[in-house]
Amino acid sequence: MTSLALLGGTPTRTRPFTVWPIFGKADEQRLLQTLRSGKWGKLNGAQVAEFEHRFASRHGCRHGLGVVNGTVSLRLGLMAAGIRAGDEVIVPPYTFYATASAVIEANAVPVFADVDLDSFNLDPAAAEAAVTSRTRAIIPVHFAGQPADMSAIMKLARKRSLVVIEDAAHAHGAAYRKRPAGSLGHLGSFSFQSSKNLTCGEGGIITTNDDALAERCRSLHNCGRIPAGVWYEHHLLGGNYRLGEFQGALLNSQLDRLEAQSDTRDRNGQYLAARLAQLPGVHPQKRPATCTRHSYHLFMLRLDSRAFGAPRSAVIEALRAEGIPCSGGYPLSLHRQPMFQNQAFGPYLPQVRGKLDYRKTRCPNSDLICQEQGFWIEHSVLLGPRADMDDIVRAFEKVHAHRAALADWSRKNSKA
Ligand SMILES: Cc1ncc(COP(=O)(O)O)c(C=O)c1O
Repeated sequence: MTSLALLGGTPTRTRPFTVWPIFGKADEQRLLQTLRSGKWGKLNGAQVAEFEHRFASRHGCRHGLGVVNGTVSLRLGLMAAGIRAGDEVIVPPYTFYATASAVIEANAVPVFADVDLDSFNLDPAAAEAAVTSRTRAIIPVHFAGQPADMSAIMKLARKRSLVVIEDAAHAHGAAYRKRPAGSLGHLGSFSFQSSKNLTCGEGGIITTNDDALAERCRSLHNCGRIPAGVWYEHHLLGGNYRLGEFQGALLNSQLDRLEAQSDTRDRNGQYLAARLAQLPGVHPQKRPATCTRHSYHLFMLRLDSRAFGAPRSAVIEALRAEGIPCSGGYPLSLHRQPMFQNQAFGPYLPQVRGKLDYRKTRCPNSDLICQEQGFWIEHSVLLGPRADMDDIVRAFEKVHAHRAALADWSRKNSKA
């Protein structure tokens, strides 16, 4: 074994991994067909409608509503569910900004409940402890593409009459007890932003089996219109959040690839997790038996630096030098972001300003993952052959074998 590439040795791998997004002739044809039809908007074209139907039925739902992104889908879901000013919504702190910003944009109060240290998903016991008389909803995130503990969350929701909106932005094609993500709560929300497992650049969808919620979402995303109304008749405060036909066209052709890609990611992800778990201090996301398909938007693990023998930041640098793209993920729990610490909520939540103090929020598991142990590899890396996974394992093993030299390098570098 040569020395670490970071210290002048030969890298484990110089070839790139799979580049995202993947596209070809079928995508070109759909886009050209849409261009030439002259029907570029959802109101007169057929692409978005076709996609909504296909995506919803694959995700176990009667209704799917294409919207401009996965932030708007969360906000419209909350509004459709009747969340009112000042209501509390429980969210995990280990997630993207939008899970909580969408709550504020619905004029409701995000309340953070910690995640589980093994699954990285919302801990149902922490969620239960966060419920107050003002709580109206929970947004579990299927983090990295592994479904949250939905049996426990739905049980809590039934007991306290709460609405559950799944943030399935990472979970296209994922399944919990063989039921698709997006059909497990009252509403599901997906994102099709560039990095996602199914993408059209920017986009989102709301999924549900509840006819009344679907009808309200439909109205909200279309300027408060109703099916029987005339064009300039507006019944609700909504907006124009309709997904466009070019996005719909691309999503239709991309959806044809999703099943095969999801199988590959799940197979490679499980293999990689089993191999890397052999190394001291390496704790891949723990997969409960209820996860019948992990969509692996991220391959995620916790790196316990002490047990591994080198600091996380140095391990990441060393792996990158070995040719493995990786990162430490979110640097801060969401409630520690300046927006929350300073209550920079713009015009929202004036009635609770002064009563809120996110500096008092305690989520030690999320903090530990963000600040010390989190480690991510993006989903496209899992789309290659098994040999690609073996390269990642070899690089990890090499970095571990040279941990003393790496720790030494890190000490010298941090002093510099
Ligand atoms: C967990 C999570 N929720 C919501 C979103 C918001 O989606 P969008 O970027 O499409 O608004 C994202 C991603 O970007 C996300 O990662």
